[in-house]
Amino acid sequence: MTAIQSLTFDLRSPSTGLVIAQVSDQGVQEAQDAAERSVTAFQTWRRTTAYFRAGLLRKFFDLMLRDEAEIARLIATEMGKPVSEALGEVRYAAAFIEWYAEEAKRVFGSVVPSQHAGKRLLVTHEPVGPVYAVTPWNFPAAMATRKLAPALAAGCTVILKPAEQSPLTALKMRDLWTEAGGPADTFQVITASDPIGVTQVMMADARIRKVTFTGSTEVGRLLAAQAAPTLKRVSLELGGHAPYLIFEDADIGQAVADVIACKFRNAGQTCVCTNRIYVQRAVAEEFTARLTAAVQALKVGDPLDASTQIGPLVDAQGLEKVQRHVTDALERGAQATTGGAAGEGLYFTPTVLTGVTPDMLVMQEETFGPVAPLLVFDTEEEAVQAANDTEYGLAAYLWTRDLDRAFRVSEQLEYGIIGLNDPVPSTAQAPFGGVKQSGYGREGGPWGLQEYLNTKYLSMTVR
Ligand code: SIN
Repeated sequence: MTAIQSLTFDLRSPSTGLVIAQVSDQGVQEAQDAAERSVTAFQTWRRTTAYFRAGLLRKFFDLMLRDEAEIARLIATEMGKPVSEALGEVRYAAAFIEWYAEEAKRVFGSVVPSQHAGKRLLVTHEPVGPVYAVTPWNFPAAMATRKLAPALAAGCTVILKPAEQSPLTALKMRDLWTEAGGPADTFQVITASDPIGVTQVMMADARIRKVTFTGSTEVGRLLAAQAAPTLKRVSLELGGHAPYLIFEDADIGQAVADVIACKFRNAGQTCVCTNRIYVQRAVAEEFTARLTAAVQALKVGDPLDASTQIGPLVDAQGLEKVQRHVTDALERGAQATTGGAAGEGLYFTPTVLTGVTPDMLVMQEETFGPVAPLLVFDTEEEAVQAANDTEYGLAAYLWTRDLDRAFRVSEQLEYGIIGLNDPVPSTAQAPFGGVKQSGYGREGGPWGLQEYLNTKYLSMTVR
């Protein structure tokens, strides 16, 4: 082992603060080696049949389910997601592998009619090439598989750089791909405490043909700029600031349960978690009282305990942001009907805020924590205007039983994903992605596969 390869960094549990693993701290040299190996592996992998790739992906899926409990514990340990929720994430992650195992066999081409009798116009699809995938810590398994599975299905090789807070799940998935029979270097994982050097190597290498990223808008913009000199294909799933509109005809009990499911999953650390909840005046009092009671009942605790619903925030920076947002709101006149303060360590007590106004930080940025700000509205027009009044456009939600309103409002919301009486619309076969400053490109379904394919046109003369 060389001196460079023996460098490691400590990985700490957000729940206990204890070191749980020492992870290889890779840099420029390892990144160059990984790129070289990915380019070489691509030459063979791209020529395998779709049926061969589909078979390997199917085995990979089976192995993910075989080890689902172990992967769920890894997720809970490294980034603090409650283990029962983490198990749901593993199944969600595996669903992408299963879906793309099937879809790999349906990359159809087409024959286009020509105006000339002797011409044949054929359209086919080819893998874009080696892919650099950068994934966040909030879904260590699912954000990786929804890039990895379509890329491998298409015939691309992948270098995955997981977030420094959650590398263990990525390493485990790489081992499962190898166990499934995945050829060497088709899927590599590069771990680093500081990703800048590694990313610069990947972005400068013209042979890496695609970068796919889930994370902040700020980093997404940097990657888009770095991709320009080599004209890499780019997919960006960036920040959100999701509104939830509760109309007066809603089933209030169900709307409360749905807002809990949407806002408090993963302790609010999800790009599609609602960040601002607008309630129509006639039902605002009842909704607030019932939401407050439901939030008070959430069980905060050890992520490895199966009954825990809310775990810690991922790190001190995450906690500081939540604290800053809540303090700012309270200082500007908001009231916490429950919560409002940090707990021990990296925990933040689930919070409901009323009296929220547009000038507060909670209304301007993603809080990424267990905080539900409530605002009251009178008219449908006012609600739609407020919902769209942001630079983000990832997900938006509404609760109504009025069919006309459901269509009217859904069509006016400037977002990539709409949850209509549905707090968790994400699923492997549907398109996930945003508009405006929430990025571009789609993950999931046939749209997710197209991101890893180039279209090729063959024009032939028959004499
Ligand atoms: C995300 O936070 O970006 C992913 C959430 C999801 O897939 O539902």
